[in-house]
Amino acid sequence: MEEIIIFDTTLRDGEQSPGASMNIAEKIQIARQLDRMKVDIIEAGFPIASIGDFEAVRAVAGEVKHSAVCGLARARKKDIERCWEAVKGARKPVIHIFMATSPIHREAKLKKSKEEVLKETVKAVKFASSLCNTVEFSAEDATRTEIDFLKEVVVAAAGAGAKTINIPDTVGYTMPSEFKNIIREVVDVLPRDIIVSVHCHNDLGMASVNSLIAIQAGALQVECTVNGIGERAGNASMEEIVMSLTIRKDIFKRRVNIDTTKIYPASSLVSRLSGIYIQKNKAIVGENAFRHEAGIHQHGVLQDKLTYEIMTPESIGKKEEALVLGKHSGKHAIIQRLKDLGIDTRKVKIDNLFVSFKELADKKKEVYDDELLTLVNEQLGKLKKIYEIDYIHTVSGTNTVPSATVRLKINKKGKSEMKEEASIGDGPVDASYQAIGKLIGRVFILADYRIKAISKGGDSMGEVTVGIKEDDSSAEIHGRGASTDIIEASAMAYVEAVNRLMILKQQREQV
Ligand code: KIV
Ligand code: ZN
Repeated sequence: MEEIIIFDTTLRDGEQSPGASMNIAEKIQIARQLDRMKVDIIEAGFPIASIGDFEAVRAVAGEVKHSAVCGLARARKKDIERCWEAVKGARKPVIHIFMATSPIHREAKLKKSKEEVLKETVKAVKFASSLCNTVEFSAEDATRTEIDFLKEVVVAAAGAGAKTINIPDTVGYTMPSEFKNIIREVVDVLPRDIIVSVHCHNDLGMASVNSLIAIQAGALQVECTVNGIGERAGNASMEEIVMSLTIRKDIFKRRVNIDTTKIYPASSLVSRLSGIYIQKNKAIVGENAFRHEAGIHQHGVLQDKLTYEIMTPESIGKKEEALVLGKHSGKHAIIQRLKDLGIDTRKVKIDNLFVSFKELADKKKEVYDDELLTLVNEQLGKLKKIYEIDYIHTVSGTNTVPSATVRLKINKKGKSEMKEEASIGDGPVDASYQAIGKLIGRVFILADYRIKAISKGGDSMGEVTVGIKEDDSSAEIHGRGASTDIIEASAMAYVEAVNRLMILKQQREQV
């Protein structure tokens, strides 16, 4: 049975989701999980975009054991050289070059004729192939490109050395019947040893179905992201593609290398680190995906799960919590639970984690998996912190002007100092943000504020995600904070977002 290559672009296209920028430590955590999952290719970033992106791609290339590691480049010498520098340390490096081919992109964006697009594509692919064994070429906005020109460009790119030809539906415009024909025509015109890949966006909700139909038309590689995150409405979702190919092998007659039991842990990790929550009814990984509400369904499932379940939660690595973790649990129980959740416990400072676990367990009866993972995440994903909350006290209530006092530890130029400020606000969260604003010398635009209970019950940890912006036109940067006290969690989230923004700015200024 022929194999479908799973090309994961969570760390590149996925990171282009508004507010989803991740730091290097977070990207490495995700890359490790993708590697454990046996993803064939990890697209780790766009190295020319910033120092941070370059370093992240290089770090992932050095870290990953099984998967090939890919970097993105425009069809320009400088981009390709930078990309090669970043990926060359990987066991299997890949350079991914893209060039827009559609009339609107040629005319409005590139201001290039068809001949120029063709010539520059060939030049770039030849140059990349002189550096790297595996070069992929993408015809950006392929689905709005004249089919004859698309075929001309991809044949030229393959002739120049590209081993994989990717057909992106960049703006999520195509429909399954149309895409099937495009892919058939492309497959027919290319030599048999060239891999045809697809990269579908979800603007009309067609990303996964378009990817699957492309497989039926002869595509052998699918580009996708965990939880379907990505530019605008996102990309084809990896879990939907992989589980469709697995569950409906009878239709697709293709196999995938993926260890499907790593899907759920990967999904939770990406959601936490990207700050993008998963909708409850999301296929495969949504909270409700294996829940049965209707009486008739519950009755059926009690007799035989297969009456209403086409796959088991276990097959995607979603385990029933057999063991309750609480204040009497010891380190061994925690280590075992972390292993069950797919965490490499050698990377976790267990003694430190145990201290935070006990603090949390003292505040609540049961500690749930997501809460445990949040503690691990806080430890593994620790940012270089410029600002840290040392103390927070708020006052609010009926007929009371809400106020907050915040003390921050400020780490700058190798020195740390404590500073304290107080402020009033529209509520205790706003008051704490105003006090933090006074301490750091500016207040950012609060573009997003979300709060959710991590687990069940009134004593659950609350997780707050905030998105901040410098001004209306700048990118949104998110931060998260988790605590049993939601005001504290809100302040932690705000300060984390500020730290991320400062670090990303420093990285950008170094370019
Ligand atoms: O959507 C797109 O066209 C892309 C390319 C760079 C492959 O992300
Ligand atoms: Zn894309």
